[in-house]
Amino acid sequence: MRLSKKIASIFIATAVGLLSSCGSDDDSYTEIDLSFQRPANFPAPTYDYAANPATRAGFELGRKLFYDGRLSSDGVVSCGFCHEQAAAFTHHGHSVSHGVNEQIGTRNTMPIQNLGFYDSFMWDGSVDHLDLVAVVALTSEIEMNGNFQQMLSLFGTDPEYKRLFEQAFPNEQISTEKMLLALGQFMSLMVSSNSKFDKWQRAEDGVTLTAEEESGYEVFQQKCASCHAGNLFTDQSFRNNGLVINPFVNDLGKYRTTQIETDKYKFKVPSLRNVMKSAPYMHDGKFRTLDAVLDHYTSGIQQTQNIDPSLINGIQLSETEKVQIKAFLNTLTDEEFLNDSRFAPF
Ligand code: HEC
Ligand code: HEC
Repeated sequence: MRLSKKIASIFIATAVGLLSSCGSDDDSYTEIDLSFQRPANFPAPTYDYAANPATRAGFELGRKLFYDGRLSSDGVVSCGFCHEQAAAFTHHGHSVSHGVNEQIGTRNTMPIQNLGFYDSFMWDGSVDHLDLVAVVALTSEIEMNGNFQQMLSLFGTDPEYKRLFEQAFPNEQISTEKMLLALGQFMSLMVSSNSKFDKWQRAEDGVTLTAEEESGYEVFQQKCASCHAGNLFTDQSFRNNGLVINPFVNDLGKYRTTQIETDKYKFKVPSLRNVMKSAPYMHDGKFRTLDAVLDHYTSGIQQTQNIDPSLINGIQLSETEKVQIKAFLNTLTDEEFLNDSRFAPF
């Protein structure tokens, strides 16, 4: 509480200074709210918001970078190409990522939401700081195949970039580090906390759950919340939930970063916020629907190496319970976040 108050006051101080700056071609920015406030039903953030406080210019720079295809080798694939807002910042219709020159990756795009509350990033937890995630995407040959030298010369010649870097980081040289900080400012404010479920939990606006949604929540608490835990809907652990292993890809998951035998085939427990919008599902994008996911848990679990002990016998769910769980998961859709113009392309 105290920390967030402190952070809020920093933001107010910077916001006052920023209101007087001009030159943006987007007038709606004058009303932008860049303060980070921990939602009352959320845990403490992991991201150090005070170390990289969002300023209007820094945030705007982050947004421009996020949607700029010129950072990639083919001039088309931006972060936003794969991370689409309407799909909770996933790549709608693609089971695995699809980057520059029509190259196909091996993993399903992850949503971008509530990253300021996570300990690690990527399906295998290979990145441990939000400000560093973009490096992977920018330089991956399959994703953006970008070249930092070329990015720096673009920032140095494009008048809009020059202005934004100068305003966001006055008297400092344009650098890749500043670029990452700006992307960090943008992404760390992408907080999804205003779903029907959140409002019900915080007893806001008189929101109530239907009987079916409430029963779904109960079933979910009993059968799913050991992993999809708390209000982030993930305990942030890595587990093998019994998917069929694709022999051609043989994605070893967390093992790829730790080389520990017991980490083979373990992937991060994903949050289920906005899950109705983020199909397809799982690290390999195997399932197109929630029905397929639920069928997997009841009858599709494969006994592969390091299967989570709690899933060995599958999860028993009646048809009614499946309907109830889906009704509950539907309450996790946050239309305010999915339509928040601060995060939309220009
Ligand atoms: C070609 C599609 C593609 C592009 C372009 C792309 N991403 Fe991603 N993104 C992915 C995939 C796939 C993953 C999961 C990667 C993995 O687990 O190895 C991911 C994961 C992430 C995550 C981790 C989320 C979490 O919860 O751990 C973040 C953050 C992210 N991307 C940000 C970005 C940013 C910033 C850019 C632009 C600089 C970008 N992405 C460009 C496909 C893409
Ligand atoms: C033992 C831990 C565990 C339990 C219990 C569990 N899950 Fe999962 N869940 C995971 C893991 C791990 C993944 C990601 C697996 C992967 O992609 O390799 C996942 C993925 C998912 C996804 C895909 C989300 C996405 O963005 O791709 C959905 C949906 C899901 N689970 C729903 C449920 C529901 C509903 C229940 C209860 C019936 C449940 N899970 C129980 C561990 C668990």
